[in-house]
Amino acid sequence: MSLGWWRLVAAAFAGFLFFHGFSASEKAPNYSFMQNATSAPTLSYYDYIIVGGGTAGCPLAATLSQNATVLLLERGGSPYSNSNITSMASFGAALSDISRSSPSQRFISEDGVINARARVLGGGSCINAGFYTRAAPEYVRHVGWDGQLVNESYQWVEKLVAFEPPLGMWQSAVRDGLVEAGVVPFNGFTYDHTYGTKVGGTIFDQQGNRHTAADLLDYANPSGLTVLLHASVHKILFAIKGKGRRKAHGVSFRDATGAKHKAYLKEGSKNEIIISAGALGSPQLLMLSGVGPAAHLKAHNITLVLDQPQVGQGMSDNPMNAVFIPSPLPVEVSLIQVVGITDFGSYIEAASGENFAGGASSPRDYVKFSPQIGQLSTVPPKQRTQEAIGKAVEYMNNLEEAAFRGGFILEKVMGPISTGHLELRTRNPNDNPSVTFNYFKDPRDLQRCVQGIQTIKKIIESKSFSKFRYDYLSWPILLNMTASAPLNLLPKHYNPSMPLEEFCKGTVMTIWHYHGGCQVGKVVDLDHKLLGVDALRVIDGSTFNYSPGTNPQATVMMLGRYMGVKILSERLAN
Ligand SMILES: Cc1cc2nc3c(=O)[nH]c(=O)nc-3n(C[C@H](O)[C@H](O)[C@H](O)COP(=O)(O)OP(=O)(O)OC[C@H]3O[C@@H](n4cnc5c(N)ncnc54)[C@H](O)[C@@H]3O)c2cc1C
Ligand SMILES: *[C@@H]1O[C@H](CO)[C@@H](O)[C@H](O)[C@H]1NC(C)=O
Ligand SMILES: *[C@@H]1O[C@H](CO)[C@@H](O)[C@H](O)[C@H]1NC(C)=O
Ligand SMILES: *[C@@H]1O[C@H](CO)[C@@H](O)[C@H](O)[C@H]1NC(C)=O
Ligand SMILES: *[C@@H]1O[C@H](CO)[C@@H](O)[C@H](O)[C@H]1NC(C)=O
Ligand SMILES: *[C@@H]1O[C@H](CO)[C@@H](O)[C@H](O)[C@H]1NC(C)=O
Ligand SMILES: *[C@@H]1O[C@H](CO)[C@@H](O)[C@H](O)[C@H]1NC(C)=O
Ligand SMILES: *[C@@H]1O[C@H](CO)[C@@H](O)[C@H](O)[C@H]1NC(C)=O
Repeated sequence: MSLGWWRLVAAAFAGFLFFHGFSASEKAPNYSFMQNATSAPTLSYYDYIIVGGGTAGCPLAATLSQNATVLLLERGGSPYSNSNITSMASFGAALSDISRSSPSQRFISEDGVINARARVLGGGSCINAGFYTRAAPEYVRHVGWDGQLVNESYQWVEKLVAFEPPLGMWQSAVRDGLVEAGVVPFNGFTYDHTYGTKVGGTIFDQQGNRHTAADLLDYANPSGLTVLLHASVHKILFAIKGKGRRKAHGVSFRDATGAKHKAYLKEGSKNEIIISAGALGSPQLLMLSGVGPAAHLKAHNITLVLDQPQVGQGMSDNPMNAVFIPSPLPVEVSLIQVVGITDFGSYIEAASGENFAGGASSPRDYVKFSPQIGQLSTVPPKQRTQEAIGKAVEYMNNLEEAAFRGGFILEKVMGPISTGHLELRTRNPNDNPSVTFNYFKDPRDLQRCVQGIQTIKKIIESKSFSKFRYDYLSWPILLNMTASAPLNLLPKHYNPSMPLEEFCKGTVMTIWHYHGGCQVGKVVDLDHKLLGVDALRVIDGSTFNYSPGTNPQATVMMLGRYMGVKILSERLAN
């Protein structure tokens, strides 16, 4: 296999880093509190037990450990010294690794869209595209958070894991194209969420090394924290408190050998179990523990603890639609750096020189169709014989991957308004539950997509972007290339008179910002306490009613810190 140009760039990058004395393993911290679950006792006691060492779980554990004893249980391994996680150019590699030890666990929603969930300490922040941006102050007000503590918590996160990205030529052209397309004003580099075009933050540092929520464990008090890796929680354990009301008091988990361990809360009215297992993991674990819709749990022979029909409801995934634009010029490897925040409810973002959709598609998947529709479109129709097409396809397939250069401009539907639901498939917590997102069920979501795609067209046709596109690849050809690529499991079709609504539905992908399942107001209260049982909270993206900011991770990390501070201040009040 020939090395793709972007792999060459990545290798050159790595050489550069080596030369300057950086390497992932050198930067790996030596957390004295982190161990393999195989070495854990079969029985232990803590003030707080957190299930899921992800984007919210890590900052939460680091904070609580300041003034209490904390156990953090993560089913995956350590993110350190794994170049599929640490290096930006490996974004697609981690997502296409479907082995049991991969930090990414693939799932396919009932909608037919290929998706991914994290399975590693640091969670989604270890496998995501790195874009870092805050929620709007209106969002913060609307959900009822304390604005000042929110800002302090964002800063606490940013001090360790957020950076200004170095903009290459291709991202700069997208930025200028957005402004030409009328997504104004240009707000420069900022973490803030305001209308117009901006350069956002990133968790990749200037050397291209990823920083993750696991780095926030640097803030932990090592004597207050135990982090167990390869610790898969099977159940939350409940005690009866009187009047039939249940109280969470422990968890059972298994290590990598399958051996069973239990951890319980120490005596103390303030002690709690906190679930931070993510939008798929948290509702799944609640159901496996007997908290969920009674009939569904009964069908799986799970003993009912609390009939809570809202667990697993309100699942949403923001639809993403992208257009791939082959480039005559070399482009930099970039993930999301520039974003257009429109006033019609869609966000425009872009990535270049990268196996962006990781397993669902690659630039090659898009471009291999171009002999049929691209180059040959400049040949008079009569000469476009089957033989000529066949030869061109063969030629393209044999090309160096260097030829497959270009980038994606994508559009994310805000919100979204459409919702779905999650159900158990099995009683094994390591299996994916079944999830349905109902993309574009609400016509307003579809309208936002159409307007987003129309904006992408304006960017591609802008003067600023012209050097990164082939003139002969007209807009219908670009759309056909996208519609022909294996982006999802839906049937493929395209014709130039097809309304953009059909294009949106047929080429829908995920931007991996799925959320819900344990929403505030339905499953948990404003303090993230589970309604109907005691000593149990859920703190992660499963609690959102709406995805915050243009991209959620900043707010998920912030929430871990924010709730940690709130919980400690309740604990220390008398
Ligand atoms: C490919 C991809 C790209 C993305 N790009 C961006 C981006 O550029 N910018 C952005 O802001 N957001 C991005 N996101 C979204 C963002 O990363 C997620 O919204 C966020 O990480 C979710 O955090 P969480 O804490 O809710 O869940 P997670 O971070 O997934 O944490 C849940 C943790 O719980 C663990 N767990 C689950 N079940 C159990 C169990 N039973 N026992 C023990 N442990 C368990 C999991 O292994 C995981 O580590 C992306 C996401 C993905 C997947
Ligand atoms: C990490 O720290 C532990 C104790 O804190 C020590 O025993 C171990 O040798 C250290 N490992 C490395 C690689 O520094
Ligand atoms: C921990 O407790 C000390 C006092 O005991 C207090 O000064 C400090 O602010 C607390 N930390 C947090 C994060 O609440
Ligand atoms: C990185 O991902 C590739 C698959 O994309 C896999 O073959 C390889 O083993 C992974 N490397 C690590 C260190 O996990
Ligand atoms: C929080 O910071 C944002 C800027 O990021 C600012 O607009 C907002 O007013 C601040 N809120 C508070 C309560 O200080
Ligand atoms: C943890 O222990 C299991 C079982 O002994 C082993 O397979 C796994 O490789 C260990 N992981 C680490 C990170 O040490
Ligand atoms: C539930 O238990 C019944 C009776 O033991 C059994 O027939 C059924 O297959 C079980 N269902 C599941 C999903 O395990
Ligand atoms: C779209 O591309 C496919 C090849 O992927 C081709 O067969 C088809 O004719 C094209 N359709 C149009 C309308 O260009």
